[in-house]
Amino acid sequence: MTKGYKMPKDFLWGGAIAAHQAEGGWQEGGKGLSIADTMRAGENGVPRIEDDKVLDGQIYPNHWGVEFYSHYKEDIKLFAEMGMTAFRTSIAWTRIYPNGDEAVPNEAGLKFYDDLFAELHKYNIEPIVTLSHFEMPLHLVKAYGGFGSRKVVDCFTKFAETCFRRYHNQVKYWMTFNEINNQTSWRDPHPLLQNSGLILGKDDNWEEKMFQAAHLEFVASAQAVQIGHAIDPGLQIGDMIAFNPIYPLTARPEDVMYCQRAMNYRYYFGDVMALGEYPAWLKKYWAKKGYDIGITPADEAIIKAGTADFVGFSYYNSAVVKYSDDNPDMDFDEAKNDTKNPYVPRSDWGWQIDPVGLRYSLNWMAARWHKPMMIVENGFGAFDKVEADGSVHDDYRIKYLADHLLQAEKAVAEDGVDLLGYCPWSAIDIVSASTGEMKKRYGFIYVDADDQGHGSWKRSRKDSFNWYKQVIASNGEDL
Ligand code: BG6
Repeated sequence: MTKGYKMPKDFLWGGAIAAHQAEGGWQEGGKGLSIADTMRAGENGVPRIEDDKVLDGQIYPNHWGVEFYSHYKEDIKLFAEMGMTAFRTSIAWTRIYPNGDEAVPNEAGLKFYDDLFAELHKYNIEPIVTLSHFEMPLHLVKAYGGFGSRKVVDCFTKFAETCFRRYHNQVKYWMTFNEINNQTSWRDPHPLLQNSGLILGKDDNWEEKMFQAAHLEFVASAQAVQIGHAIDPGLQIGDMIAFNPIYPLTARPEDVMYCQRAMNYRYYFGDVMALGEYPAWLKKYWAKKGYDIGITPADEAIIKAGTADFVGFSYYNSAVVKYSDDNPDMDFDEAKNDTKNPYVPRSDWGWQIDPVGLRYSLNWMAARWHKPMMIVENGFGAFDKVEADGSVHDDYRIKYLADHLLQAEKAVAEDGVDLLGYCPWSAIDIVSASTGEMKKRYGFIYVDADDQGHGSWKRSRKDSFNWYKQVIASNGEDL
């Protein structure tokens, strides 16, 4: 056992999931079709294909997730047994507005989350809620082109307002868009679709479209922050950034400069949402590329007035870049960067495992954005083996989490960063977002189901369940 540091009193010890990866019940209670409901299963190296409707004979893993919709009481009881004081999930937009543009919300969907939040409070578990986690109503994509249209800004802010009004007494912590910055590379088909609901035509410049859509999401997010605060000034409404720090491969000045540009490119999203304005370098970049982002003075005022209350972020891995004379302008394209870090190992899915990078990231964000932070995802996707007696000895996951937590604790105890909580991904096994696989497991709780949705859905405790219980009981000291 590793000796860690006690975290501050009231530190939130949680676990995280997202509605579309866990709930299933895709047609229950009047729910509409989301983009996740027509996304086929893929696997490691095989992208998921988005259909424009549900096709016979295809596998859509988000239709069942892990049946959290019908199992949530049993699951929350297990979270409580671990001692969790927080739980992060998302509200499936299509349960509340099945098509996204209705005048009136769907009462059965609203009621589901009333009950879910009440169940959490029964065990003194604080809900932490993401409004949009890769699950936009499919209709908004087909009818308006997602955040390619200002109409969808109105649909999102209406959805946000409905949720804030209904749940503000039950939910204090909110985030607007999950991993909003995970659309800065062109990987067919889904990063732009998952985040912004964009499907591009063959002549579209993906990068210009991405900047335009992200801008409208910034406006939508900042409006939501203002609406939420007007409804209840006690609400804490954060942004949510996928943070994987980028290092220069060497001390060569060009590598360092390129690295800085890559970090700027990946994390300008946080600059806009936390600081309320676009950085100067980006305006120059757009001018150089001839992009028209369509920013109005009114948009700028909204973004300035609706900055995030805290920075929520996911942390899984770090990346490395190396300058090349082929790219003298030092423009960063994550999809083309396959520079490996010789100092860190990789997971079975090729993710570079770097606990120290978490401490580095917390310090980087604290110095740049000056906001409280919350780790809302951190975890290890791995194949788990069930033993004959039903146990799962996931010591690799325990090691990953303990190593990362220790670094987060150092950032708090030794560096003084303001960290509100830790919500590992995932509280329970769920369907992978990038591959649609079930076998890429992250949870403390094993769910008996396979990639085709076959299984008993029975829940069982992994070794990491007992490990996390002891971490929470010691407030972070016993890792
Ligand atoms: C983040 C997402 O990208 O990483 C989650 O916010 C996702 O939805 C998680 O599940 C892990 O990624 P994956 O693709 O392994 O499920």
